[in-house]
This record gives sequence, structure tokens and C-alpha cells, in this order.
Amino acid sequence: MATKQHSSDRSIAQITNSFEIVEAYKTLRANLIFSMAPMSRKVIVISGPEPNTGKSTTSCHIAVMMAQTSKRVLLIDADLRRPKLHRFFRVNHAGGLTSHLLSGGDWEKCVCKEVAPHLDLMTAGPIPPNPSELLGSQRMSHFLDQVAEQYDYVFIDTSPINVVTDALVLSARTAGTVLVARQNQTGYDELQQAIEGIKKVNGTLLGVVLNDYQPSLSEEKRLAYRQYGYGEPNEKK
Ligand SMILES: Nc1ncnc2c1ncn2[C@@H]1O[C@H](COP(=O)(O)OP(=O)(O)OP(=O)(O)O)[C@@H](O)[C@H]1O
Ligand SMILES: [Mg+2]
Repeated sequence: MATKQHSSDRSIAQITNSFEIVEAYKTLRANLIFSMAPMSRKVIVISGPEPNTGKSTTSCHIAVMMAQTSKRVLLIDADLRRPKLHRFFRVNHAGGLTSHLLSGGDWEKCVCKEVAPHLDLMTAGPIPPNPSELLGSQRMSHFLDQVAEQYDYVFIDTSPINVVTDALVLSARTAGTVLVARQNQTGYDELQQAIEGIKKVNGTLLGVVLNDYQPSLSEEKRLAYRQYGYGEPNEKK
């Protein structure tokens, strides 16, 4: 079982003291609340076209920000290839999602409670040989059904969409997917490919976060991103 090793009052202010970053995440949160309002199961996949776009960073920040509204939030590390969330919250990841999926039993025993106020974390657990199959399993579906009932919002950090199918398996069975693109890294074609992938599995694209935004981005490219999305959560000072 994942165990907590630090104080339970971790908040966004402890993650960053940048006013611009906090405000950008508040905008992202408001947009998510608005777009998720009609949906009864608020289970959201966070992914991106390629590695290193800031998927895990965005997942952590938006989960903490959402929990600050006093909603009950669960953050799941479903990147079973490069899991990172346990490091961000400094918890032990001996247990976690794969432990539950492989052995069954009570999923709540694999959850690390209150890593921040109102926020629980399910770490990835031991890396399995078959991540896509595990994430597409009946047990995973059942698990998602249960957490959707227990929490107001569930955020799922995943592997990159254009590289492995893991995230698409989850996009197909959740309320929506947020894509994280990174300035000066993610190309327009890569972003389109990820969007097409979500469409093919009948997933719902909630929006695109442009991470690591710098004002030098050309107006043309900025507009291309904005037509899909939420703006720039990690604007640099
Ligand atoms: N806006 C930003 N400004 C500066 N550094 C950032 C920003 N966003 C993310 N990073 C850094 O970039 C690296 C990758 O971020 P992160 O792990 O969130 O990406 P990822 O898409 O989840 O990667 P992976 O594909 O490996 O899962 C980390 O070192 C993180 O601290
Ligand atoms: Mg990641």
C-alpha cells in the first residue's frame, strides 16, 4: 500500500509561488469545471502527443487546484511505463494501481490518502509487462466505475498518445481527455495525430493545454493552439 511520508497540507502555494502560474491553473480549473458540468462521471484523462510535454506536472497541479475547491479528488498515475506522481508527492509507490489490477481486492487499500487537502493519490505500483492490457481490463473498468462514484473528480495521468495506446484505451471509457502540448517541442502534426487518435476511439477532447508557454511564440501558432484550448498554464515570468 502507498504510504504518505509528508505533511498533509501540501498546496499549490507550496508547489509554486508564481502568481502567473497559479492564475493560469485557476483558469484551467474554471474551464474544466464548466465543460464537465453536464457529465455525471467526472473522470478525466490527462495525456499529450509525445513524451516530456508536462503531462504529469499538469496532472498534479490541476488535481491540487481542483481539491482546493473542497471537492473530493483522486489522482491516478496510469503511466505504467514512466510513473512519476509518487515522486512529486513524495510517497512510497510499492502498492498502487497495478497491485490492485493484478491481485484484485480492496482498491482503497492501494490509495494514499490526503496527499493534499481533499486529494487522494493512487500511485502506479510496480511496472507491469503489459500496461495496455491491464488498463483495458475488466478490472480497470470496474475500478473506474467505483472511483467515479466515490470522488467528485478523478484525474488520470497517462503515457503519450502517439507513442503507446495506453491513454487511448482510457480515453475511450472516460468522460474526456485533456492534451498537454509543449511550446517549442510539440509540432502541429503531432498534436493533430493525438486529436485524431482520441476521435477514432470515440473519446471526448476537452481541450489542449499549451505548457511552457513563452511570449515569443508566433501569433499564428498561438492561434492554432487556442482554437482547441485552455490557454497557457505554465506561463514563465
Ligand atoms: N512549464 C514548465 N516549465 C519548466 N519545466 C517544466 C514545465 N513543465 C514541465 N517541466 C519539466 O519538464 C520535465 C517533464 O515534465 P513532466 O514529467 O510533467 O512531463 P511528462 O509529459 O509527464 O513526461 P513523460 O512523457 O516522461 O511522462 C520535468 O522535469 C518537469 O519538471
Ligand atoms: Mg509523465
